[in-house]
Amino acid sequence: MSILVTGGAGYIGSHTVVELQNEGYDVVVIDNLSNSCKKSLERVEKITGKPVKFYEDDIRDREALENIFRNEDIDSCIHFAGLKAVAESVRIPWEYYDNNISGTLTLLDVMRSHSVKNIIFSSSATVYGTPKFVPITEDCPKGTCTNPYGWTKSMLEQILTDIQFADNEWNVVLLRYFNPIGAHKSGLIGENPTGIPNNLMPYVTQVAIGKRDHLNVFGNDYDTHDGTGVRDYLHVVDLAKGHVMALKKIKDKSGLSIYNLGTGIGYSVLDIVKNFEEATGVKVPYKITGRRPGDIATCYADPSKAAKELGWRAEYGIKEMCEDSWRWQSMNPDGYGE
Ligand code: NAD
Ligand code: UD1
Repeated sequence: MSILVTGGAGYIGSHTVVELQNEGYDVVVIDNLSNSCKKSLERVEKITGKPVKFYEDDIRDREALENIFRNEDIDSCIHFAGLKAVAESVRIPWEYYDNNISGTLTLLDVMRSHSVKNIIFSSSATVYGTPKFVPITEDCPKGTCTNPYGWTKSMLEQILTDIQFADNEWNVVLLRYFNPIGAHKSGLIGENPTGIPNNLMPYVTQVAIGKRDHLNVFGNDYDTHDGTGVRDYLHVVDLAKGHVMALKKIKDKSGLSIYNLGTGIGYSVLDIVKNFEEATGVKVPYKITGRRPGDIATCYADPSKAAKELGWRAEYGIKEMCEDSWRWQSMNPDGYGE
């Protein structure tokens, strides 16, 4: 029995493949390499000492998926494949809805035709919009998203919920990630953004290594302890382990479950700069600029449901998140170099 990992060559996917292989699972990866490269999977093999079965295919390609389900003994799917750049999604919404929504619908259709009805889906804290309260529990009402990327997550949650409701043979876990950062301890795999990074930590590490002059801090007039935006950063290895725990749960025929995966601690942008400098000894020059449209002041999780029901807790603190992000960046100044 194998686990199909869509988007397994990407940042979170590659870390999850490591944890799955470490736990003894057989893994099959499908990825069209639109935002990743094969080298990440070669590095995964180096870390685990096990081969990764890889199909370079698109989840919108029904024939390619049929081929995988015919050839492999798939039991469950962890579904990471998707486009994720917020600003790009505003520019090319059709491509985001096609890739993320049509891709998932095709995947679900092929899954059910092969009677594979266990799926773990990569959702995001973005579905809460401007959260009604913090820390955010899973009962917090979903909100209005500010961009097409966010809507694809929110809509796919609804689609998966409706499909599970109509056919209770489906077991669906929606994992709402907060802000994954960090990298595998080996420094062999990590986040590999193309172009100018959108997210904070890759930008910070690129400033630290001298690729960028300074960090732009998007606003210092929020209602937070130092005026800069507060987020719940979690180590990507902890996040990857959350998927393994969710997989164990799905085997108990869990129906529909939703979990926040975060640490429960909020750090501001300036807290991150300070912690990064302390953990690595490298200075990160910054300038305060205007707010980024669509940003919210504060977002952090109440992760107690995942602790209670999955037995999952984030283990790594901010120091290790900073150290590990920096190890990856400094060992691989040009990412995977492809
Ligand atoms: P990533 O871009 O590194 O990984 C996504 C992978 O999916 C890439 O390897 C890409 O090539 C592949 N892919 C995209 N479209 C595909 C398609 N049509 N067919 C096959 N493969 C395809 O991103 P990530 O940070 O690892 O994120 C993984 C998932 O988690 C995404 O769905 C993302 O939206 C979600 N998520 C990420 C974050 C974050 O901060 N990184 C936060 C919340 C949710
Ligand atoms: C962003 C996305 C969100 C997505 C999440 C994880 C937006 C509006 N939201 O959220 O949909 O789910 O990433 O992928 O893009 N910051 C700076 N300077 C920078 C970069 C970021 O000051 O160069 C600040 C931001 O204003 C924010 C914090 O750092 O306060 C974190 O930003 P980021 O890493 O982009 O994550 P989110 O804003 O939480």
